[in-house]
Amino acid sequence: MAALPAVQDYRALAHKRLARMARDYLEGGAEDLRTLGRNRKAYDALLFKPTVLTDVTSVDASVEVLGQPLAMPAVVGPTGLNGLYYPRAEEALATAAHRAGLPFVVSTASTSLLEDVRRASDGELWLQLYVQRDRGISQRMMERARAAGYSVLMLTVDTPVHGVRDHDIRNGFKMPLRITSRLMADVITHPRWCLRMLRQGGSPQLVNLARSAGTAVNLAAQAAAMSRQMDMSLDWQDIDWLRAHWPGRLLVKGILSVDDALKARATGVDGIVLSNHGGRQLESAPSPLELLPAVAEAAGSAMTVMMDGGIRRGSDIVKARALGAQAVLLGRAPLYGLAARGPRGVDEVLQILRRECETTLRLLGCPRAAELSPSVFQPAWKERLKAL
Ligand code: FNR
Repeated sequence: MAALPAVQDYRALAHKRLARMARDYLEGGAEDLRTLGRNRKAYDALLFKPTVLTDVTSVDASVEVLGQPLAMPAVVGPTGLNGLYYPRAEEALATAAHRAGLPFVVSTASTSLLEDVRRASDGELWLQLYVQRDRGISQRMMERARAAGYSVLMLTVDTPVHGVRDHDIRNGFKMPLRITSRLMADVITHPRWCLRMLRQGGSPQLVNLARSAGTAVNLAAQAAAMSRQMDMSLDWQDIDWLRAHWPGRLLVKGILSVDDALKARATGVDGIVLSNHGGRQLESAPSPLELLPAVAEAAGSAMTVMMDGGIRRGSDIVKARALGAQAVLLGRAPLYGLAARGPRGVDEVLQILRRECETTLRLLGCPRAAELSPSVFQPAWKERLKAL
């Protein structure tokens, strides 16, 4: 079957394939979905200003971020519980990212071991870290990632507790999945999804966390419990503690203000990811795109600024890069591909985004992504973003 035209087609197909509980977990946002909606609206506010009659015979979407070459300004971002969509999901995402010339970020809440992901892919792998109350778990996770050649650590700081997600409560969504009458009804009406889960031996498990926790009995259930025990005391001073255990590049993900960006800069981290966690954490948070120009200016050349939230088109990637993000994280988009068509679907989604990126660069008359700047927007772009 030929590739589908756009990311939204993979989204629609994913909705058909997935059991309701998995679909809601993937798509859902916090409370009344204001932040989730705002993430997309922000891209709509920006209008391009093309420069015509420019030689666009050759186009180059590639950029360099943290010393690593990226085929376009994007990284396949960290998402937990990916095994809900397809067996060996992290291995599929890592290999597809590598084929597309992009790094892949493995989540602390991954359903494959970080070592297995490394065995599956020779590409650039980064580790996303949630710090649990038992700091030993994080220390062991970082040691394992170092030993497996992971190059960047991404500390997520917007999740001291989970956001309020009504749909997960409604669905009784808990890891590991428990067989309830509601789940049974969901499964029966989605036999293809059910077969996928059976192929991986039932409910996906937080094996990565379990390995670092090193507990002997009922690993999966304990890991799930621990995943809910975030260290709520974590503060800026703990960056030193992380540095002591992680000699590589360090990013802080989940920044949503200039003030916090400046604090991050003062700690000497290599970079930040402006993010509201795909609208899943704090309701009524701003969209990262609207904060991007001010944060990029505050960061200056001292640190790398990345952002995420709502990227569904190559033109979204171009807008983010033009406003000062060195690269974006792709959250749901590659997962739509995976849930719709398995590993091939991830390849297709990444190819679509790259192609759309290149088309946008050509139509803008700015064929090199590395040279993008706010000059590609109509003059009123600041006011339009402010009016969101
Ligand atoms: C996430 N996100 C996330 N972030 C993180 O640091 N660790 C994690 O384990 C997860 N898990 C997760 C699961 C799912 C299903 C989603 C959709 C998101 C947030 C993610 O990294 C990213 O910030 C957002 O997904 C970006 O928004 P879009 O691209 O999904 O709109």
